[in-house]
Amino acid sequence: MSEPATPPSAPGLEAARVEGSRRVAKLRTRLCDLIGIDCPVLQSGMGRVAGPDLVAEVSKAGGLGILAGLNVPPDALRQQIRRVRELTDRPFGVNLWLHPALLPPADPQGVPGDVLAAVQRALNGFRARLGLPASQASPERLPDLVEASFQTLLEERVPVFSVGLGNPGIERVRRCRERGIKVVAMVTTVEDARAVAAAEVDVIVAQGSEAGGHRSTWNGRASGESASIGTLALVPQIVDAVPTPVVAAGGIADGRGLVAALALGACGVLLGTRFVATRESLAPLFWKRAIIDRSSNETTVTTAFTGLRARVLRNVFTEEYAASGAPVLPPLLQAGAARDIVTRSTDWNDPRFVPLYSGQGNGLIRDLPGAGEVVRRLTEEAAIALRDLAAADAAA
Ligand SMILES: Cc1cc2nc3c(=O)[nH]c(=O)nc-3n(C[C@H](O)[C@H](O)[C@H](O)COP(=O)(O)O)c2cc1C
Repeated sequence: MSEPATPPSAPGLEAARVEGSRRVAKLRTRLCDLIGIDCPVLQSGMGRVAGPDLVAEVSKAGGLGILAGLNVPPDALRQQIRRVRELTDRPFGVNLWLHPALLPPADPQGVPGDVLAAVQRALNGFRARLGLPASQASPERLPDLVEASFQTLLEERVPVFSVGLGNPGIERVRRCRERGIKVVAMVTTVEDARAVAAAEVDVIVAQGSEAGGHRSTWNGRASGESASIGTLALVPQIVDAVPTPVVAAGGIADGRGLVAALALGACGVLLGTRFVATRESLAPLFWKRAIIDRSSNETTVTTAFTGLRARVLRNVFTEEYAASGAPVLPPLLQAGAARDIVTRSTDWNDPRFVPLYSGQGNGLIRDLPGAGEVVRRLTEEAAIALRDLAAADAAA
């Protein structure tokens, strides 16, 4: 295949080199050289989804798999890291949230009694339908794990530290750099991109509002709407604002999305929702099915599950909680209050009361492939899209 024509204003495309035939197409950007991968595709760390099997499959296929580290006790995290290394010698990452509500975990005793009572009243309606006893209790305080988890990934010298919902700060970045660990931080605004660039992270993920899961914000100033910029508008602004390599996230599920991201100046993509619906993902089948079967207009952004804004598929929980008018507890205390409901609903394979995290790209996802196949398809489809663009240009 010949080199595609590349417009001079698209740095990502300039850096992309398409090699090989249609069957074995490889798409390299500077991200590949930076973190030692073959194709510029990152699989997001995702709680309840991204364990060693998923991560290793993505990395073996030439992308970067990322383990979910949030609330995983450090010993278990170390075991998972070692399991990935048994499965592959390719680079991989570990994701932690660095949200201020985890540093240290918020104190439930600070919640006013009337607020707690109103939240539990709404939740008790769900408990009744799941055969659970009513509760008026305060949620338990989360264990204080972030520093120990960070220490674990330093000791294990994982290739990549991926940060969600926080700024790692220059000191953590320095400690990673000393051990050869690359730092990738995810943001939703230009302002936060500048902040993590000042901390000298190696890569910035620009998370558009289409993304599934939590919005990667961490300061109270960013209201819901100001941190909800679509990928198409956000990525080039961040590319223009910082010298750091940028990876696009949010609504990308196939090779066309990868090419679009490169055209915006990104040097790669990070996908979450597409990898939830893969064979190696730990998500229960009802969640995978929901992503495959439901359409893009069935997602919503809610704080009702955790106290932090996250994009999920609408279900009984999201709709009835909103209709109840109940307040929401502070970040992550809400998750603690609803934990028994989510656990029971999951155990019963009942999608009505579980956070079915999904981005708007779910409408592009119609099958349940292996995760390695997803990586291969993305690069092959991207190579075809680039070839078609070049052909259209030549024909014009
Ligand atoms: C099920 C699910 C869980 C997620 N968990 C995390 C997480 O633990 N840490 C994190 O940094 N991002 C997490 N994300 C967000 C992703 O990093 C990413 O921004 C998003 O998935 C990209 O959009 P997409 O879902 O449209 O591909 C999660 C996303 C999903 C869908």
